[in-house]
Amino acid sequence: MTEHQEATVSDEHATAQRLRRLIEMDGAGSWPPKVAHGPSWPAALRPYHDIYIEMAPVLPVYPPSVDSEANAIRIATFRSRIRNLFHDKINLSEVESLLIAAERGESSPFPLDARNGFFACIALSRHAYRWGVIPVVKVAQDEKFIDMPLELNVPWAFLQRIYGVTSHGGNVTSNYFYNFDKDDNLVYEINHGMPKMIQTAEHHFARIFPVLEKLALPIYHEMVKSMIAFDRGQREQCLESLKEISTSLRLPLKAFYDTLVNSKIDRSVWLSYCQGFQGWAAGEMKDGVYVEYDGLSGNQLPFFHFVDAFIGMPPYLSEENMQRYIPAAQRHFTASLREHSFRTKAKEMGDVEIEAEMEKIVKQMRVFREAHRARARPYLSAPAPERKVMTAGKSVLESEKIPDSNAAIEFLFKLLAGRLKQTV
Ligand code: HEM
Repeated sequence: MTEHQEATVSDEHATAQRLRRLIEMDGAGSWPPKVAHGPSWPAALRPYHDIYIEMAPVLPVYPPSVDSEANAIRIATFRSRIRNLFHDKINLSEVESLLIAAERGESSPFPLDARNGFFACIALSRHAYRWGVIPVVKVAQDEKFIDMPLELNVPWAFLQRIYGVTSHGGNVTSNYFYNFDKDDNLVYEINHGMPKMIQTAEHHFARIFPVLEKLALPIYHEMVKSMIAFDRGQREQCLESLKEISTSLRLPLKAFYDTLVNSKIDRSVWLSYCQGFQGWAAGEMKDGVYVEYDGLSGNQLPFFHFVDAFIGMPPYLSEENMQRYIPAAQRHFTASLREHSFRTKAKEMGDVEIEAEMEKIVKQMRVFREAHRARARPYLSAPAPERKVMTAGKSVLESEKIPDSNAAIEFLFKLLAGRLKQTV
């Protein structure tokens, strides 16, 4: 690094540094992230890509099966086939050496965009092994400890360290952001060969997430600019940025409103064919206590973490869940936004203009939360007789206290209502 670069970096606002780091590292230089799959990976890793592609058509079944005995056989068959492929095609010691070298930064066999694509492949392969069939079924939900093949555990431990997450299952970053190619096609599909309505729903649902992030990137830059301006006492620039944010905020939120509609994501198929597989609902014993990991939820989306932190809201996820599902670079940017949030300070200084601009942002987040609750209900209420009551983000909910889907929806609605109440 030259002297000039050093001076620039050390002068840079901490929040700007965190955003830059997020884009450089997890984004491989862009946001939403740059990703490369399969053929561009180091040779030792390529079989993982080929195996997922080969096994993807075996995964889904239409219509869903409620025959537990047949489902158990199907899952066992899927697992044994994929285990055999791993055994025959993957040289685990080569994989291990390559990942160790990549982690030590020795040579550069593994560019960041390829690493992102590999994260998607291993995460999706783990979900495929965990469930063994789509839609997910009761016999698989009853399994609480999954004996994963070593070929999936070795790279997973590496990826957990690199990205800074601890869950056994994937997250929104691995399963959605890193799972699209340059032409916006899903690489590791879960409903290969299913009727068009199911495939359309899968594509649109997955696509909301990177699209939202793409539209939100200018907002992230403005948030950082407003903080720098506020810290330097440049009030006019700060107000300019806040105005920019509330104008730009409409776009990512519109992507949500426009996509979560029946013509794109059909309510009759979302629960069984899009959501269940993204759950995890299994875990491990840690210090004698059973720890269960959830799967994916919109609650892991960076956009909401960043905006909530900027407007000074407390986090929605516990620290433990942040560590499990949110990559470190995202957590660090969120923490910095929260640390440098100037809303309370501006209020204490009696700056009514800044507060008024902040309120415009808050108002849009309230509108989103109200719309999200209303849109979520019919999707959650669809029948899914093949499985127990579960949401991907909160694992299996069925219990004595939550005997059916109505009780589950009420439980979930309390969480959403709580968040809406905090959005002030
Ligand atoms: C059919 C689609 C969806 C359903 C049924 C649904 C349902 C839910 C439920 C039940 C929760 C509370 C439990 C939890 O934290 O996991 C939740 C949280 C959340 N969801 Fe969704 N969701 C859907 C799609 C989305 C999408 C597309 C987004 C964003 C683009 C999103 C963003 C969020 C956020 C940010 C939270 C955290 C709570 C909050 O900030 O208000 N959801 N969702």
